[in-house]
Amino acid sequence: MTKKLIAVLRGEPSWPPPVWLMRQAGRYLPEYRALRAKAGDFISLCTSPDLAAEATLQPVQRFGMDGAILFSDILILPWALGYGLRFAEGEGPILPRLTSQDIARLDPTRLERALQPVLEAIALIRLRLGDQAALIGFAGAPFTVACYMVEGGGSKDHVLTRAMAYRSPHDFDRLMTILTEATIASLSLQIEAGAEAVMLFDSWAGILSPSLFRRFVALPAARIKAALAARFPAIPLIGFPRLAGALLGVYAEISGVDAVGMDTATDPAFAASLVPAPTALQGNLDPVALLAGGAAMTAEVARILGALRGRAHVFNLGHGILPETPPAHVAELLQLIRRADGVA
Ligand code: CP3
Repeated sequence: MTKKLIAVLRGEPSWPPPVWLMRQAGRYLPEYRALRAKAGDFISLCTSPDLAAEATLQPVQRFGMDGAILFSDILILPWALGYGLRFAEGEGPILPRLTSQDIARLDPTRLERALQPVLEAIALIRLRLGDQAALIGFAGAPFTVACYMVEGGGSKDHVLTRAMAYRSPHDFDRLMTILTEATIASLSLQIEAGAEAVMLFDSWAGILSPSLFRRFVALPAARIKAALAARFPAIPLIGFPRLAGALLGVYAEISGVDAVGMDTATDPAFAASLVPAPTALQGNLDPVALLAGGAAMTAEVARILGALRGRAHVFNLGHGILPETPPAHVAELLQLIRRADGVA
Protein backbone atom coordinates (compact mmCIF):
# COMPACT_ATOMS: atom_id res chain seq x y z
CA MET A 1 0.00 0.00 0.00
CA THR A 2 1.29 3.43 -0.90
CA LYS A 3 1.65 5.62 2.18
CA LYS A 4 -0.64 8.65 2.19
CA LEU A 5 2.20 11.21 2.20
CA ILE A 6 3.79 9.60 -0.86
CA ALA A 7 0.50 9.41 -2.78
CA VAL A 8 -0.13 13.13 -2.16
CA LEU A 9 3.43 14.08 -3.15
CA ARG A 10 2.77 12.22 -6.41
CA GLY A 11 -0.20 14.52 -7.04
CA GLU A 12 -3.25 12.72 -5.62
CA PRO A 13 -5.38 14.92 -3.33
CA SER A 14 -6.34 13.40 0.03
CA TRP A 15 -8.64 14.62 2.80
CA PRO A 16 -7.71 15.38 5.50
CA PRO A 17 -4.22 16.09 4.16
CA PRO A 18 -1.15 14.25 5.43
CA VAL A 19 0.91 16.28 7.89
CA TRP A 20 4.50 16.57 9.11
CA LEU A 21 6.37 19.60 10.44
CA MET A 22 9.71 21.10 9.53
CA ARG A 23 12.08 20.76 12.52
CA GLN A 24 9.63 18.37 14.17
CA ALA A 25 12.62 16.85 15.99
CA GLY A 26 14.39 19.40 18.14
CA ARG A 27 14.79 21.44 21.27
CA TYR A 28 11.07 21.99 21.94
CA LEU A 29 10.89 18.29 22.93
CA PRO A 30 12.28 17.30 26.35
CA GLU A 31 13.19 13.84 25.01
CA TYR A 32 15.29 15.52 22.28
CA ARG A 33 17.11 17.68 24.83
CA ALA A 34 17.93 14.53 26.81
CA LEU A 35 19.26 12.78 23.68
CA ARG A 36 21.26 15.86 22.69
CA ALA A 37 22.86 15.96 26.16
CA LYS A 38 23.77 12.27 25.82
CA ALA A 39 25.39 12.85 22.40
CA GLY A 40 27.42 15.86 23.57
CA ASP A 41 27.52 17.96 20.43
CA PHE A 42 25.16 18.32 17.51
CA ILE A 43 27.45 16.80 14.85
CA SER A 44 27.96 13.70 17.03
CA LEU A 45 24.18 13.38 17.30
CA CYS A 46 23.83 13.59 13.51
CA THR A 47 26.57 11.00 12.93
CA SER A 48 25.59 8.39 15.57
CA PRO A 49 23.19 6.10 13.67
CA ASP A 50 21.30 4.93 16.73
CA LEU A 51 20.88 8.40 18.25
CA ALA A 52 19.98 10.03 14.92
CA ALA A 53 17.38 7.31 14.34
CA GLU A 54 15.94 7.90 17.80
CA ALA A 55 15.75 11.69 17.26
CA THR A 56 13.97 11.09 13.94
CA LEU A 57 11.39 8.81 15.52
CA GLN A 58 10.70 10.82 18.72
CA PRO A 59 8.10 13.24 17.28
CA VAL A 60 6.45 10.51 15.19
CA GLN A 61 6.04 8.29 18.25
CA ARG A 62 4.72 11.17 20.35
CA PHE A 63 2.35 12.79 17.82
CA GLY A 64 1.83 10.37 14.89
CA MET A 65 2.86 12.52 11.92
CA ASP A 66 2.53 11.09 8.38
CA GLY A 67 6.17 11.90 7.62
CA ALA A 68 9.40 11.26 9.53
CA ILE A 69 12.20 13.58 8.41
CA LEU A 70 15.70 12.20 8.79
CA PHE A 71 17.47 13.82 11.72
CA SER A 72 20.53 15.45 10.19
CA ASP A 73 21.46 18.92 8.93
CA ILE A 74 21.95 20.61 5.57
CA LEU A 75 25.53 21.46 6.61
CA ILE A 76 26.49 17.78 6.96
CA LEU A 77 27.08 17.90 3.17
CA PRO A 78 29.96 20.44 3.22
CA TRP A 79 31.25 18.63 6.34
CA ALA A 80 31.27 15.38 4.32
CA LEU A 81 33.23 17.17 1.56
CA GLY A 82 35.96 17.88 4.12
CA TYR A 83 34.90 21.46 4.88
CA GLY A 84 35.15 22.61 8.51
CA LEU A 85 31.92 22.86 10.52
CA ARG A 86 31.08 23.38 14.15
CA PHE A 87 27.99 24.42 16.04
CA ALA A 88 28.66 26.94 18.79
CA GLU A 89 26.15 26.79 21.65
CA GLY A 90 23.49 29.44 21.12
CA GLU A 91 25.20 30.83 17.98
CA GLY A 92 24.36 28.39 15.22
CA PRO A 93 26.77 26.98 12.63
CA ILE A 94 30.31 28.30 12.14
CA LEU A 95 32.29 27.44 9.00
CA PRO A 96 35.51 28.81 7.47
CA ARG A 97 34.68 31.73 5.11
CA LEU A 98 35.03 30.30 1.62
CA THR A 99 37.08 32.17 -0.98
CA SER A 100 37.71 31.18 -4.62
CA GLN A 101 40.94 29.33 -3.68
CA ASP A 102 39.06 26.99 -1.31
CA ILE A 103 36.79 25.56 -4.04
CA ALA A 104 39.46 23.19 -5.39
CA ARG A 105 39.93 21.72 -1.91
CA LEU A 106 36.38 20.39 -1.68
CA ASP A 107 36.73 16.62 -2.03
CA PRO A 108 33.73 14.72 -3.46
CA THR A 109 35.63 11.41 -3.15
CA ARG A 110 35.15 11.56 0.66
CA LEU A 111 31.39 11.93 0.46
CA GLU A 112 30.12 8.37 0.40
CA ARG A 113 32.34 7.19 3.24
CA ALA A 114 31.60 10.26 5.39
CA LEU A 115 27.84 9.79 4.93
CA GLN A 116 27.89 6.15 6.10
CA PRO A 117 26.54 6.89 9.62
CA VAL A 118 23.66 8.87 8.09
CA LEU A 119 22.83 6.00 5.74
CA GLU A 120 22.96 3.56 8.65
CA ALA A 121 20.53 5.78 10.54
CA ILE A 122 18.14 5.65 7.55
CA ALA A 123 18.23 1.85 7.51
CA LEU A 124 17.52 1.74 11.27
CA ILE A 125 14.62 4.21 10.94
CA ARG A 126 13.01 2.15 8.16
CA LEU A 127 13.22 -0.95 10.35
CA ARG A 128 11.55 0.84 13.26
CA LEU A 129 9.03 3.01 11.38
CA GLY A 130 5.46 1.74 11.14
CA ASP A 131 3.30 1.55 8.02
CA GLN A 132 1.82 5.00 8.48
CA ALA A 133 4.71 7.43 8.26
CA ALA A 134 7.02 7.76 5.26
CA LEU A 135 10.71 8.60 5.70
CA ILE A 136 11.84 11.86 4.10
CA GLY A 137 15.52 12.33 3.25
CA PHE A 138 16.86 15.81 2.52
CA ALA A 139 19.66 18.13 1.52
CA GLY A 140 20.21 21.85 1.52
CA ALA A 141 19.86 23.26 -1.97
CA PRO A 142 23.25 24.24 -3.46
CA PHE A 143 22.62 27.99 -3.18
CA THR A 144 21.70 27.90 0.51
CA VAL A 145 24.65 25.64 1.36
CA ALA A 146 26.92 28.02 -0.60
CA CYS A 147 25.53 30.92 1.47
CA TYR A 148 26.66 29.29 4.74
CA MET A 149 30.09 28.48 3.26
CA VAL A 150 30.79 31.92 1.77
CA GLU A 151 29.45 33.83 4.79
CA GLY A 152 31.10 31.45 7.27
CA GLY A 153 27.73 30.85 8.97
CA GLY A 154 24.41 32.66 9.12
CA SER A 155 24.00 36.16 7.70
CA LYS A 156 21.31 38.85 7.50
CA ASP A 157 21.99 40.08 3.99
CA HIS A 158 24.38 37.56 2.34
CA VAL A 159 26.35 40.35 0.67
CA LEU A 160 29.53 38.24 0.44
CA THR A 161 27.68 35.43 -1.35
CA ARG A 162 25.85 37.69 -3.77
CA ALA A 163 29.02 39.71 -4.44
CA MET A 164 30.86 36.49 -5.32
CA ALA A 165 28.05 35.47 -7.69
CA TYR A 166 28.28 38.85 -9.51
CA ARG A 167 32.07 39.43 -9.37
CA SER A 168 33.35 35.90 -9.89
CA PRO A 169 30.56 34.12 -11.75
CA HIS A 170 32.97 31.49 -13.03
CA ASP A 171 34.12 30.54 -9.51
CA PHE A 172 30.58 30.68 -8.15
CA ASP A 173 29.37 28.41 -10.97
CA ARG A 174 32.15 25.96 -10.14
CA LEU A 175 31.12 25.94 -6.47
CA MET A 176 27.46 25.48 -7.43
CA THR A 177 28.33 22.60 -9.79
CA ILE A 178 30.33 20.78 -7.10
CA LEU A 179 27.52 21.26 -4.56
CA THR A 180 24.82 20.24 -7.08
CA GLU A 181 26.61 16.99 -7.97
CA ALA A 182 27.32 16.26 -4.28
CA THR A 183 23.62 16.87 -3.51
CA ILE A 184 22.58 14.40 -6.23
CA ALA A 185 25.04 11.85 -4.78
CA SER A 186 23.83 12.41 -1.20
CA LEU A 187 20.12 12.18 -2.09
CA SER A 188 20.74 9.08 -4.25
CA LEU A 189 22.53 7.36 -1.35
CA GLN A 190 19.70 8.34 1.02
CA ILE A 191 17.12 6.86 -1.37
CA GLU A 192 19.14 3.66 -1.78
CA ALA A 193 19.32 3.39 2.02
CA GLY A 194 15.53 3.73 2.38
CA ALA A 195 14.32 7.34 2.04
CA GLU A 196 10.83 7.29 0.45
CA ALA A 197 10.76 10.99 -0.57
CA VAL A 198 13.42 13.70 -0.54
CA MET A 199 13.35 17.45 0.08
CA LEU A 200 15.61 20.31 -1.00
CA PHE A 201 15.77 23.18 1.52
CA ASP A 202 16.59 26.47 -0.24
CA SER A 203 16.17 28.74 2.78
CA TRP A 204 17.80 31.77 1.12
CA ALA A 205 16.35 31.40 -2.41
CA GLY A 206 14.34 34.61 -1.95
CA ILE A 207 17.30 36.99 -1.61
CA LEU A 208 18.31 36.75 -5.29
CA SER A 209 17.36 38.89 -8.27
CA PRO A 210 15.05 37.08 -10.74
CA SER A 211 17.90 36.31 -13.14
CA LEU A 212 20.16 34.90 -10.42
CA PHE A 213 17.15 33.01 -9.00
CA ARG A 214 16.75 31.19 -12.31
CA ARG A 215 20.45 30.42 -12.55
CA PHE A 216 21.32 29.47 -8.97
CA VAL A 217 17.98 28.23 -7.57
CA ALA A 218 15.66 26.95 -10.34
CA LEU A 219 18.25 25.42 -12.70
CA PRO A 220 20.20 23.48 -10.03
CA ALA A 221 16.86 22.13 -8.73
CA ALA A 222 16.03 21.06 -12.32
CA ARG A 223 19.37 19.29 -12.64
CA ILE A 224 18.83 17.51 -9.31
CA LYS A 225 15.25 16.51 -10.21
CA ALA A 226 16.30 15.17 -13.64
CA ALA A 227 19.20 13.14 -12.22
CA LEU A 228 17.03 11.61 -9.47
CA ALA A 229 14.09 10.96 -11.82
CA ALA A 230 16.38 9.02 -14.18
CA ARG A 231 17.46 6.68 -11.37
CA PHE A 232 14.48 6.70 -8.99
CA PRO A 233 11.33 7.62 -10.97
CA ALA A 234 8.96 6.70 -8.11
CA ILE A 235 10.61 8.88 -5.44
CA PRO A 236 9.02 12.35 -5.12
CA LEU A 237 11.17 15.48 -4.67
CA ILE A 238 9.87 18.43 -2.63
CA GLY A 239 11.49 21.80 -3.42
CA PHE A 240 11.34 24.59 -0.82
CA PRO A 241 12.55 27.87 -2.33
CA ARG A 242 11.87 29.97 0.76
CA LEU A 243 10.76 33.58 0.17
CA ALA A 244 10.52 33.03 -3.60
CA GLY A 245 7.19 34.92 -3.67
CA ALA A 246 5.84 35.38 -7.18
CA LEU A 247 8.77 33.31 -8.56
CA LEU A 248 7.21 30.11 -7.17
CA GLY A 249 5.62 29.45 -10.56
CA VAL A 250 8.94 29.89 -12.39
CA TYR A 251 10.54 27.56 -9.86
CA ALA A 252 7.89 24.85 -10.31
CA GLU A 253 8.02 25.07 -14.10
CA ILE A 254 11.81 25.07 -14.51
CA SER A 255 12.66 22.60 -11.76
CA GLY A 256 9.97 19.99 -12.40
CA VAL A 257 9.84 19.11 -8.67
CA ASP A 258 6.88 16.98 -7.54
CA ALA A 259 5.91 19.30 -4.68
CA VAL A 260 6.59 22.94 -3.81
CA GLY A 261 6.99 24.09 -0.21
CA MET A 262 5.29 27.39 0.70
CA ASP A 263 6.86 29.66 3.32
CA THR A 264 4.88 31.58 5.94
CA ALA A 265 4.51 34.72 3.79
CA THR A 266 2.93 32.89 0.83
CA ASP A 267 -0.81 33.08 0.18
CA PRO A 268 -1.79 29.43 -0.46
CA ALA A 269 -4.45 30.37 -3.03
CA PHE A 270 -1.88 32.48 -4.92
CA ALA A 271 0.62 29.59 -4.79
CA ALA A 272 -2.08 27.25 -6.11
CA SER A 273 -2.65 29.59 -9.05
CA LEU A 274 1.09 29.80 -9.83
CA VAL A 275 1.84 26.08 -9.48
CA PRO A 276 -0.43 23.95 -11.66
CA ALA A 277 -1.70 20.53 -10.53
CA PRO A 278 -0.64 17.76 -10.32
CA THR A 279 2.34 19.41 -8.60
CA ALA A 280 1.63 19.16 -4.87
CA LEU A 281 1.87 22.06 -2.40
CA GLN A 282 3.28 21.83 1.11
CA GLY A 283 2.85 24.24 4.00
CA ASN A 284 2.40 26.76 5.46
CA LEU A 285 1.24 27.51 9.01
CA ASP A 286 3.24 30.30 10.66
CA PRO A 287 5.48 28.63 13.30
CA VAL A 288 4.55 31.53 15.59
CA ALA A 289 0.83 30.63 15.25
CA LEU A 290 1.81 27.15 16.45
CA LEU A 291 3.76 28.69 19.31
CA ALA A 292 0.73 30.83 20.26
CA GLY A 293 -1.83 28.02 19.83
CA GLY A 294 -5.52 28.53 20.68
CA ALA A 295 -8.10 30.30 18.53
CA ALA A 296 -5.52 32.12 16.39
CA MET A 297 -3.93 28.83 15.38
CA THR A 298 -7.33 27.24 14.69
CA ALA A 299 -8.30 30.13 12.39
CA GLU A 300 -5.01 29.96 10.46
CA VAL A 301 -5.30 26.20 10.01
CA ALA A 302 -8.87 26.55 8.70
CA ARG A 303 -7.77 29.26 6.24
CA ILE A 304 -4.95 27.12 4.82
CA LEU A 305 -7.04 23.94 4.59
CA GLY A 306 -9.88 25.85 2.93
CA ALA A 307 -7.62 27.47 0.34
CA LEU A 308 -6.08 24.16 -0.76
CA ARG A 309 -9.03 21.78 -0.51
CA GLY A 310 -9.14 19.66 -3.66
CA ARG A 311 -5.41 20.14 -4.34
CA ALA A 312 -2.68 17.67 -3.50
CA HIS A 313 -1.62 19.33 -0.22
CA VAL A 314 0.76 18.26 2.53
CA PHE A 315 0.11 20.23 5.70
CA ASN A 316 3.28 21.67 7.23
CA LEU A 317 4.64 24.87 8.72
CA GLY A 318 5.99 27.80 6.68
CA HIS A 319 9.37 27.38 8.43
CA GLY A 320 10.79 25.26 11.25
CA ILE A 321 9.23 24.77 14.72
CA LEU A 322 10.57 27.29 17.24
CA PRO A 323 12.33 25.85 20.31
CA GLU A 324 9.90 27.67 22.66
CA THR A 325 6.85 25.87 21.18
CA PRO A 326 4.75 23.95 23.75
CA PRO A 327 4.57 20.29 22.65
CA ALA A 328 0.84 20.29 23.56
CA HIS A 329 0.21 22.75 20.70
CA VAL A 330 1.68 20.26 18.23
CA ALA A 331 -0.70 17.58 19.50
CA GLU A 332 -3.60 20.06 19.12
CA LEU A 333 -2.54 20.93 15.58
CA LEU A 334 -2.56 17.28 14.52
CA GLN A 335 -6.02 16.81 16.05
CA LEU A 336 -7.35 19.90 14.27
CA ILE A 337 -6.14 18.64 10.90
CA ARG A 338 -7.37 15.10 11.40
CA ARG A 339 -10.82 16.38 12.38
CA ALA A 340 -10.70 18.84 9.53
CA ASP A 341 -14.18 18.14 8.18
CA GLY A 342 -15.51 20.57 10.77
CA VAL A 343 -13.17 23.46 10.00
CA ALA A 344 -12.88 23.76 6.22
O1 CP3 B 1 13.32 17.80 12.31
C1 CP3 B 1 13.88 18.14 11.24
O2 CP3 B 1 13.43 19.05 10.50
C2 CP3 B 1 15.08 17.34 10.75
C3 CP3 B 1 16.37 17.85 10.96
C4 CP3 B 1 16.85 19.20 10.43
C5 CP3 B 1 17.69 20.05 11.20
N1 CP3 B 1 18.08 21.11 10.40
C6 CP3 B 1 18.09 19.81 12.59
C7 CP3 B 1 18.74 20.85 13.37
C8 CP3 B 1 16.68 19.81 9.18
C9 CP3 B 1 15.84 19.36 8.00
C10 CP3 B 1 17.47 21.00 9.17
C11 CP3 B 1 17.59 21.90 8.01
C12 CP3 B 1 18.41 23.12 8.10
N2 CP3 B 1 19.56 23.30 8.83
C13 CP3 B 1 18.18 24.30 7.35
C14 CP3 B 1 17.06 24.50 6.33
C15 CP3 B 1 15.77 24.86 6.94
C16 CP3 B 1 15.74 26.23 7.59
O3 CP3 B 1 15.68 26.25 8.84
O4 CP3 B 1 15.77 27.25 6.88
C17 CP3 B 1 19.19 25.21 7.68
C18 CP3 B 1 19.34 26.61 7.13
C19 CP3 B 1 20.07 24.57 8.61
C20 CP3 B 1 21.32 25.11 9.22
C21 CP3 B 1 21.26 25.17 10.70
N3 CP3 B 1 21.30 24.07 11.52
C22 CP3 B 1 21.19 26.32 11.52
C23 CP3 B 1 21.13 27.74 11.00
C24 CP3 B 1 21.17 25.89 12.84
C25 CP3 B 1 21.20 26.75 14.08
C26 CP3 B 1 19.89 27.30 14.43
C27 CP3 B 1 19.22 26.46 15.46
O5 CP3 B 1 18.00 26.25 15.35
O6 CP3 B 1 19.92 26.02 16.40
C28 CP3 B 1 21.19 24.46 12.83
C29 CP3 B 1 21.17 23.56 14.01
C30 CP3 B 1 20.11 22.52 14.03
N4 CP3 B 1 19.71 21.75 12.97
C31 CP3 B 1 19.39 22.09 15.19
C32 CP3 B 1 18.54 21.06 14.79
C33 CP3 B 1 17.60 20.23 15.65
C34 CP3 B 1 19.58 22.62 16.62
C35 CP3 B 1 20.79 21.94 17.17
C36 CP3 B 1 20.79 21.78 18.67
O7 CP3 B 1 20.30 20.74 19.14
O8 CP3 B 1 21.30 22.67 19.33
